[in-house]
Formats: sequence, C-alpha cells, structure tokens
Amino acid sequence: MERERLEQAVPHLLAWYRLFRRDLPWRKDKEPYHVWVSEIMLQQTRVEAVKGYYIRFLEKFPTVSALAAAPEDEVLKAWEGLGYYSRARNLHRAAKAIAAAGAFPETFADVRALPGVGDYTAGAICSIAYDLPCPAVDGNVLRVLTRLLADPGEIGDAATRSRFAEALRAVYPPEAGDFAQALMELGALVCLPNGAPLCGECPWETLCLAHAAGEEERYPVRAEKKARERIPVSVYVLQCGGEFALERRKDKGLLAGLWQFPLVEGRDAPPDRGEVLAQKRAVHIFTHKEWEMTGYLVRVPERDERFVWATAEEIGKRYALPSALKAFFEWVK
Ligand code: ADE
Repeated sequence: MERERLEQAVPHLLAWYRLFRRDLPWRKDKEPYHVWVSEIMLQQTRVEAVKGYYIRFLEKFPTVSALAAAPEDEVLKAWEGLGYYSRARNLHRAAKAIAAAGAFPETFADVRALPGVGDYTAGAICSIAYDLPCPAVDGNVLRVLTRLLADPGEIGDAATRSRFAEALRAVYPPEAGDFAQALMELGALVCLPNGAPLCGECPWETLCLAHAAGEEERYPVRAEKKARERIPVSVYVLQCGGEFALERRKDKGLLAGLWQFPLVEGRDAPPDRGEVLAQKRAVHIFTHKEWEMTGYLVRVPERDERFVWATAEEIGKRYALPSALKAFFEWVK
C-alpha cells in the first residue's frame, strides 16, 4: 500500500471538505445518540432519503431513554418506508441496553457490540462522535481509495477491506470525524460510482493514480454479481365493510415484524373466496430478491379472525407496512 501517497492525500481532502461539505441535519452536532441514529439510517440508504426521517425520528424520540421507553410498533412506524426494518428493531433493542447502562458506549469495542452495528458503523460513530482513529470503510470509501492508489483489490473481499482499514488507521488525523466524513463526501459528490467521476473538481486530481492513467472507471474491481432470486407473490387486500385485513410478519427475516396485507409466496394464486373488485401486478426489488406481485382487491362477506382488521385511517396511523406493498395502498385509501 502506498502509505506516502495516502498521507499526502489527507490534508488536501480535509481542506476540500471544509469548503464543500453538505449541510446535513446530522452534521449540526456530535451527540453520540444523534450520530448513531444517523449512521444506522444511512446504512444502505441514500442521504436524500434519510434527511426527513432523521429529523422526524429525533423529534419523536429526542433521547436514548425516550427511544428505549417507546413501544416497538411506534419505532417501526417512524421507520415506515425507510426499508431494512431490522435496523429499527436493533436500534430499539440497543436503546434499551444503553438506557439500562446509563450512558452511551465510548470505546470502539463497546459501540461495535451494539445490535445492528458492524465494523463500518462502529468506525463511523467513533470517529464522528469521539474523533477516535477508527476507520469506516464501505463501498464509497473503497471506490475513492482504490482509485487514488490504482489498487486492483477486489472490493467484495474482506481482506481488501481490512487492508484499507489498516492503511487508513495509520494516517488518521486528529480531526477523525471530519476525515471519515470527508472520505464519504468525496465518494458522494466527486468520485462517483456510475459514469465518469468529476475529476476536475477533485482535491486529489494530481495525486490520483487511476486518473493519471486515465483509468478511473477500471476501479473499484469487483467480482460478478449473482442474479437476484425472483419470487412470485400473491397479495390479498381483503375488504369487509370499511375495514381491511392485516397480518404481522414473523420476527425474523425479510421485513421482520412489519404488518402486511395477507400474502403468499409461490405460484400466483387467485383468491378462492369473495368477489375480486380489482387486480394488478407490481414488482419490488430487495437486495437479494425480487417480488413479482399480483395483488387482488377482494370483497369478503365476513371477517376471518386469523387477521387483524383495520380502517384506512388506523392503517395510516398505527401499522407499519413495507413500501413493497405501496402499489396496493391506493385500494385502501
Ligand atoms: N453515509 C454514511 N454516513 C454518512 C455521513 N455521516 N454523512 C454522509 N453520508 C454518510
């Protein structure tokens, strides 16, 4: 690894960050609870999508204790539409542990031990909240660094990740939080993933080995992706009077603990009872699978007691439903 080049790159990046950093809601303070909530929300989720959720979440749960004291359904409701709901459940679980312990954890090991916090997020929290030299290496950071160093390491490899983490650890400046966020910011604003990066605006333009070779887009090197599994799903929006049937998903796995219209995975299966008032198809793409949904709006003569029955208004207020089912919401409204 080119230690010297990396060392030279640090001050250029910090100076650039101070001029061009975005004014994001979680950059107003370094309160560990705020940093933690933002980093969990930012896992796999775009900055633009997170902004509003972050502000509303902290209005609703201004402290760790407020979050710990809330019922789980309320936390899931505040997360509704953001996706990867196990994050909300883990956040809630961790809040209870932190409230019980009486203080937010202050070392990498203790932060890393919180449910829902991996190496990247622990690194981000510790560098941003405490200015500790703890690297946070995700796909964006790897793109920026593999280009700077024209490094052929495959970014899906754990070995590549830890190699870069160690290289970064050795050059961390005292302004660790700014440095960590500057790396993310460069990846988000300049060293872009799809299409050409904006090298003319980059603080590393003269240092970057990929740029010198005109080969920015050769990096990062990644192994071929597996195709997503496609799953046919039948969704039944059962209507009885002014109410609709809901069921709660299992506590483990995809969309754990969320509410949904009754649905079955497998071959498309039209309803065997009731009157079909409408039907439509929709697709939702998750990380590793794809739902190919056929939805049926069905009027049924009586309430099946296996389900919870709720009005449109109650669904809007109390029950967290996944965005995957959004195409069928209009039948309820
Ligand atoms: N992605 C992950 N953490 C981030 C942060 N603190 N700012 C911007 N983007 C991020």
